Amino acid sequence: MPNLNRRALFATTGAALTLAAAKADAAGAAEALTDLRGHVGLFPRLPLLDMESRGDFMLGMSIMNNGDMQRAANARAQEILKSHGVKPDEKMQFEKAIALLSPDPVLAAYAKSRSTHQGIKYRMLQTELHKRADQYLAALEAADKAGPGMVEFTGLNAPEYTRREIHTQPGGYVGDPFAGYMYRYGTDWGVLTGRNYQDESHKALAGNVPVPTDGKVKRVLDLGTSIGQLATSMKLRFPDAEVWGIDAGAPMVRYAHLKAVDMGLAVNFSDRLAEDTKFPDNHFDIVTANILFHEVTAEAAKKIVAEVGRVLRPGGVFYPTDFYTNALPPSTAWQHFQAFWNHRWNNEDWMLEYATVDLNAEMRKSGMTISAGNETTFALRPPGKNVVGTKV
Ligand SMILES: C[S@@+](CC[C@H](N)C(=O)[O-])C[C@H]1O[C@@H](n2cnc3c(N)ncnc32)[C@H](O)[C@@H]1O
Repeated sequence: MPNLNRRALFATTGAALTLAAAKADAAGAAEALTDLRGHVGLFPRLPLLDMESRGDFMLGMSIMNNGDMQRAANARAQEILKSHGVKPDEKMQFEKAIALLSPDPVLAAYAKSRSTHQGIKYRMLQTELHKRADQYLAALEAADKAGPGMVEFTGLNAPEYTRREIHTQPGGYVGDPFAGYMYRYGTDWGVLTGRNYQDESHKALAGNVPVPTDGKVKRVLDLGTSIGQLATSMKLRFPDAEVWGIDAGAPMVRYAHLKAVDMGLAVNFSDRLAEDTKFPDNHFDIVTANILFHEVTAEAAKKIVAEVGRVLRPGGVFYPTDFYTNALPPSTAWQHFQAFWNHRWNNEDWMLEYATVDLNAEMRKSGMTISAGNETTFALRPPGKNVVGTKV
């Protein structure tokens, strides 16, 4: 492609991206991919051994933050609460909980350790990926044209709320051409604490997704698919189904497609909005949305559920999995503090708004009945029976 500014291709949203999803050039794609030191199973190796070691350190830090550090912080929070005569399970207003807990230096150090981890990790990833921009872009470009499956770039002008630097990822999901790579390593060394190098967490989640009672699964849609790990896991579970993954971030679906090509899986990806999927009415048998809802505004969440009600066929199943789909929103002081930390220091801009959305009520409004599904867990969410919506 002459005169193509490859470095700027995904740097701005709204640019009319007209990269056609042409047919396979699998040999070229494979060559470009192996250039990057190959994979360990599904895990793409880092460009330098030094980065791999730093990644190990990041993983260790995440395990510590989410394990011993979190337990110590919780113990400290309980001491403070006890000194104010508050029991661990007692319900408390958000503002009161934050006023009680956030001035404490131990709790501040816990929050700082978590946000520093995020900051160092993403800065390192962005710097090193951009140093090798041409190599990574070559791999992405080769995959754009490869199959099976395809990637479509619609030139979506992603709404402002989707462009925030959620969980401090530089450029967010929309504004950096290597957002997919950053997300991949960042989550493996972060909330997934090393339990997803081979998509294990997504495969387990896909295994828990309920099937319509008539057993028919011809079409599956994954909303906010990011790098397509649930979409490809659904394809592995339902090999004969047509599977789509859509996301507001063009760089995310670009990497998702590269990853699916590498896995040899025919999954289709597109940069489309979950609230405006462009699919026909009554089209899908199953719709999934994993950890999407805490990253959208309350207004968008409601529109997304309405859109799901439209695209699901009667008897089709909606399986949204997020912090409060298998548990109640925060009510105790410690739970509020965790949500506060995530919102304030981890740039989870929509986390607090998410807690105000009654997802079950929205599902009912959009024509679904509600039931309790399997015990489901993901990342650091405790297990619990997850809500299932079935279109009437
Ligand atoms: C935490 S990630 C989801 C992770 C992914 N579902 C998984 O299982 O790993 C949230 C994703 O939702 C996408 N997103 C946010 N708002 C969206 C919207 N309105 N429509 C589609 N995707 C959206 C973001 O770009 C991001 O990739």
